[in-house]
Amino acid sequence: MLEVDNVDLHYGAAIALRKVSLRAEIGAVTCLLGRNGVGKTSMLRAITGAHPISAGTIRWEGQEISRLPTYERARRGIAWVPQGRDVFPLLTVRENLETGFAVLPRRERKIPDEIYDLFPVLKTMLRRRGGDLSGGQQQQLAIARALIMKPRLLVLDEPTEGIQPSIIKDIGRVIALLRSRGEMAILLVEQYFDFANELAQTIVVLDRGDVVLAGRREDLDETDVRRRLSV
Ligand SMILES: Nc1ncnc2c1ncn2[C@@H]1O[C@H](COP(=O)(O)OP(=O)(O)OP(=O)(O)O)[C@@H](O)[C@H]1O
Ligand SMILES: [Mg+2]
Repeated sequence: MLEVDNVDLHYGAAIALRKVSLRAEIGAVTCLLGRNGVGKTSMLRAITGAHPISAGTIRWEGQEISRLPTYERARRGIAWVPQGRDVFPLLTVRENLETGFAVLPRRERKIPDEIYDLFPVLKTMLRRRGGDLSGGQQQQLAIARALIMKPRLLVLDEPTEGIQPSIIKDIGRVIALLRSRGEMAILLVEQYFDFANELAQTIVVLDRGDVVLAGRREDLDETDVRRRLSV
């Protein structure tokens, strides 16, 4: 389980997260929702180690990880699908997938067939350059690359942003399948309420660096949540 408690995060003198707490459990999808610029990506930076926190604690599988470098958190099973995907444009699809090997022992450095079961489109495109894929295909590649790391915590930052509806459906099916296997905790950042709501067991809503609503999906009032997301 991921346990985030009372985390503050600053950019210089500006505060982006204020005493933020959340939990993400194995076998469940936890959705972090909020409008533009409220601190969703900052929360993921805190969890992955891409930006230091200024107060609070982050525990993963019972151990404090708040001060570990990014690669050490990745080695402990935390994989990040960044906002905007960050596919390497000049590397082929296969090479992009292979970058996920970095955290695995040498004998496990093979692309499992199940990656292609989850994302059949990638199999047909292995030699194509990442930059030549459509936005939706790049998103699938970014998720596949994260899964290559065999994560126990998968964090996804707005995977539906700028993606066509048919691929959003495919991505939703993959997330639901991963959840149903019960082997990883999934932390999903979204602004797209309906997508998040279909997948989430727990919802946390951020507004300007504060948690303003949190709870099990069935205990939250949908109108309340939607109101926090509309501009
Ligand atoms: N590297 C940075 N340096 C300074 N300020 C930053 C930096 N990154 C984000 N911020 C600021 O911190 C706040 C939270 O940004 P963050 O990217 O976490 O929001 P977000 O909820 O992910 O937004 P979006 O939905 O647009 O992705 C914003 O006010 C943003 O301008
Ligand atoms: Mg963001």
